[in-house]
Amino acid sequence: MKGIILAGGTGSRLYPMTLAVNKQLLPIYNKPLIYYPLSLLIDSGLNDILLISTPAALPNFAKLLGDGSHLGIKLSYAAQAHPDGIAQALLIARDFLAGDSACLILGDNIFMALSAVNKVRQASHNLSGALIFACQVQDPARYGVLAFDGAGQVTDIIEKPKLPPSPWAVTGLYCYDASAVERAAQLRPSARGELEITDLNLSYLHSHNLQVHCLPRGSAWLDAGTPGSLLDAADYIRVLETRQGQLYGSPELSAYQQGFIKRTQLLTLGQAQSGTAYGQMLVEIAQERG
Ligand code: G1P
Repeated sequence: MKGIILAGGTGSRLYPMTLAVNKQLLPIYNKPLIYYPLSLLIDSGLNDILLISTPAALPNFAKLLGDGSHLGIKLSYAAQAHPDGIAQALLIARDFLAGDSACLILGDNIFMALSAVNKVRQASHNLSGALIFACQVQDPARYGVLAFDGAGQVTDIIEKPKLPPSPWAVTGLYCYDASAVERAAQLRPSARGELEITDLNLSYLHSHNLQVHCLPRGSAWLDAGTPGSLLDAADYIRVLETRQGQLYGSPELSAYQQGFIKRTQLLTLGQAQSGTAYGQMLVEIAQERG
């Protein structure tokens, strides 16, 4: 299984913050937003990752993350020239995937959900069909929403419904088998002119090949699409990190924990940023476990 991060979009709901800077490069407390989905993929054991963004933003992502070798992973880049929908990421990734299965994550989604990491890890070894992740939210109308029958089986997925059939929103984390690229190629643009990820998921649902993991209570799923949710996410991470003295969403730490880099490499990465609490934390972790 290979990883795909879609970090595109105009970020128009965050103007003027995103007039010159891609949304996924904005800070969430002490690190760029893109670090969080990248860490989730690394935590899940994936080490071959494609980052898709706008032609304008790609050089900035490359400056931040390079070819991934400092993290012991292979990171490549591809452009999405126009924001034509999330499902288009599968088409852009066709050559990169080369017939492999995919874990797609949206660049502005932050998960604190061990069960999701474990599920992606399992799916990376063996997946037939698709696996999507749902989370209970208070404002489901902003998302793709699941409808269930009396037996708890998913019967439909509705994109931004006026009357949500349930509080279960489909999150921006999706695992697909190798048929996803051909399925995406069959999709037609929706009324808003996008290749909808919900339509791709419906294609799997209709062929009885869709698994849904509902995130258990205690998990967190945050998106950072508006100034308020950006600040909420930063506060959430700040509270967790300062209270617990732990790092969340650190690709360096995830890479170390997965054995993709050695202790000495983690130390070097931390020392290069030792003017910050973030860098110092990496140094301490490298030294503690030495
Ligand atoms: C997209 C998807 C939606 C999903 C959401 C998760 O929404 O279309 O189904 O629930 O991401 O973040 P959009 O970002 O296009 O509003």
